[in-house]
Amino acid sequence: MSKILVTGGAGFIGSNFIRLLLQRGGHQVVNLDALTYAGNLESLADVANEPGYAFVKGDIAERDQVEAVFAAHRPSVVVHFAAESHVDRSVLDASAFVRTNVMGTQVLLDVARANGVERFVHVSTDEVYGSLGATGKFTESTPLAPNSPYSASKTGSDLLVRAAFHTHGFPCLTTRCSNNYGPFQFPEKLIPLMILNALDGKSLPVYGDGKNVRDWIYVTDHCSGILAVMERGRDGEVYNIGGNAEKQNIEVVKTLLGLLGKGEELITFVKDRPGHDLRYAIDNTKIRSELGWEPAHSFDTALRETVDWYRSNAAWCGSVRSGAYRDYYARQYDAR
Ligand code: NAD
Ligand code: DAU
Repeated sequence: MSKILVTGGAGFIGSNFIRLLLQRGGHQVVNLDALTYAGNLESLADVANEPGYAFVKGDIAERDQVEAVFAAHRPSVVVHFAAESHVDRSVLDASAFVRTNVMGTQVLLDVARANGVERFVHVSTDEVYGSLGATGKFTESTPLAPNSPYSASKTGSDLLVRAAFHTHGFPCLTTRCSNNYGPFQFPEKLIPLMILNALDGKSLPVYGDGKNVRDWIYVTDHCSGILAVMERGRDGEVYNIGGNAEKQNIEVVKTLLGLLGKGEELITFVKDRPGHDLRYAIDNTKIRSELGWEPAHSFDTALRETVDWYRSNAAWCGSVRSGAYRDYYARQYDAR
């Protein structure tokens, strides 16, 4: 049985990953999370009392706190999700992104290496590759060309992970995934924001002309990909993860309105995101051929399930859309 330290496990993808680990059994899981605006222990309420699970509130950029977690729990594997994750917030203020994503990742690498960790999985993003034109896909050898403060900070973390492997022989692996959707996603991101606005009869703010393309993956498919990399990936390697579901934003928004039985008059085209990447698309050949991973969900079915989840979990949605969320929403959208 291995003991796995999951950072950022109270966030969207981390909470789904912890649930998957506990369902699989055979592991002890320690969740280290600072509980920023994006971290919510209600997302793990169903597993909070499981014997193989422990939560520690702590900040990955604070070395003392990270050292204390390693001393108390002695993990042999780290799966690193903790990050500032929202592009629009990084445009408003990049400082927390540099602190957590860059400095926090280096603290974790240092402490994990000093404690003899056997495997370090770094969860990164396709945004490190920058933007595509109308054709082509990101492969693991596409040059890194980040365009937003968020993606630049994630690229910094990817390079620190690469350096830990090359310089110190520390057994690190990196995953780079496309846009996730599904249960427990904070409603600052496109899909939950549009679902909850539509349910409230509020306008749906589409940036620019709505023709930017994202490549969508259901969150549990991303989690099964990370698990495959954790169990069978090769040290020092990068694995792209993507669900083969490229869509223009406007198509996603119209599909959501159809699923919710709402009219397209709710759509409002607003001022574009500065530096808005045009298109992302993942070539997932490597993880499929090397590790035998495949996404299990189609976009149409999983999007319908996601809409149903947000409809049925009004209490979770209400608690995350607190005063702080309302302040952010006003800052981000009122002047557009
Ligand atoms: P999220 O914003 O929902 O969750 C981030 C979690 O990290 C939160 O629980 C937060 O409290 C925690 N955290 C933030 N700063 C911390 C710190 N200093 N110390 C400890 N914990 C801290 O993010 P997410 O969407 O679940 O993304 C998780 C990871 O996956 C990120 O690294 C992100 O870059 C990557 N990723 C996300 C997507 C996506 O579509 N959401 C796609 C590819 C990769
Ligand atoms: O590609 C992986 C990345 O996907 C992750 O690394 C990030 O953590 C995650 O946030 C996501 O980044 P995006 O910027 O692509 O996701 P977001 O949901 O913010 O936006 C998706 C698209 O929708 C993007 O083209 C911008 C557009 N959009 C977004 C919002 C919030 C709108 O048109 N209106 C909106 O209100």
